[in-house]
Amino acid sequence: MTHARFRPFALLAALALAVSACSDGSGSGSEAPDGSGGGGGDGGYPDAAITIVVPFAAGGPTDTVTRLLQEPMGAELGQQIVVQNVEGAGGTVAAGEVAGAEPDGYTVLMHHIGMSTAPALYPDLPYDPLVDFKTIGLVTEVPMTLIARQDFEPTTVEELVDYVTENADSVTYAHAGPGAASHLCGLLFQSALGVTLTEVPYDGTGPALTALEGGQVDFMCDQTTNTTGAIEGGLVKAYAVTTPEPVESLPDLPTTAEAGLPEVEVSVWHGLYVPAETPDEVVQALSDALKVALADQNVIDELGNLGAAPVAEDQATPEALTEKLESQTELWRPIIEDAGVEVS
Ligand code: MLT
Repeated sequence: MTHARFRPFALLAALALAVSACSDGSGSGSEAPDGSGGGGGDGGYPDAAITIVVPFAAGGPTDTVTRLLQEPMGAELGQQIVVQNVEGAGGTVAAGEVAGAEPDGYTVLMHHIGMSTAPALYPDLPYDPLVDFKTIGLVTEVPMTLIARQDFEPTTVEELVDYVTENADSVTYAHAGPGAASHLCGLLFQSALGVTLTEVPYDGTGPALTALEGGQVDFMCDQTTNTTGAIEGGLVKAYAVTTPEPVESLPDLPTTAEAGLPEVEVSVWHGLYVPAETPDEVVQALSDALKVALADQNVIDELGNLGAAPVAEDQATPEALTEKLESQTELWRPIIEDAGVEVS
């Protein structure tokens, strides 16, 4: 099991900067290599099923987003898409596996903001996100929610802050491993309060949410793509959303800024990657299929119901994801180093 240690106060100011830079990125549109919409069966790529590797447990937010793309991307490419969950070490086990996979377009990685934080968090990371992958495109950006077990004493953000501050020694918070979005958001929350809580890591926030619903842990910060159903169903207590604007599908929740915690502002960008030696025509075919999937009305509606939305078409490109990964890697390294976060 990995353990992270950090200096909470040092993290606060720098993380606020990170968040404000989270929605940048540009990129140009792209065209299919042969002008077609892809499609298999003609001896070209793809002529077999494609696996998208999800670096966290099944049933969690990354898995949910990936499975929404499965059908429309597969239909566009004319092949089945298989989703494989490879959990461990905040998503780095899966990324390492895909970095070393055959560069033929049949093994694709779905990953999120953790792709940009792993190099600073894991000194022995066996791959370089900026060197060992080609980017396919950005997928979505997802708000997070501050949630707790249903019978947790505080009922408002203000009460939450007071309670956690007074009971920091006994409050537990769940996350999906160092570098996972839930881990980063938890650090941000602790940093804002100046406390260090007891971490309980899981293979993903799918199982972490189950533990929270079962009352085995106290608190979590997790993506709306995982928490919306539990919030609507009254299975957990929800305090706030971590975005500057309210989330339409969760209208009763204030933003963290409105609730007096403006420092806890973060959203989770996702992207698709393939091994670095993958041919450009294959990258282009995958990127074109991603664009088609993100324009699918069912994908738009389902993401909307879960508090998220597909990125704009010009962001579902290799250029846009590369730019995002580069800028976020640059942003997070000094923050993590200055905060003294260590994974051992
Ligand atoms: C998951 O899919 O389990 C999450 O994305 C984990 C996280 O990053 O918090």
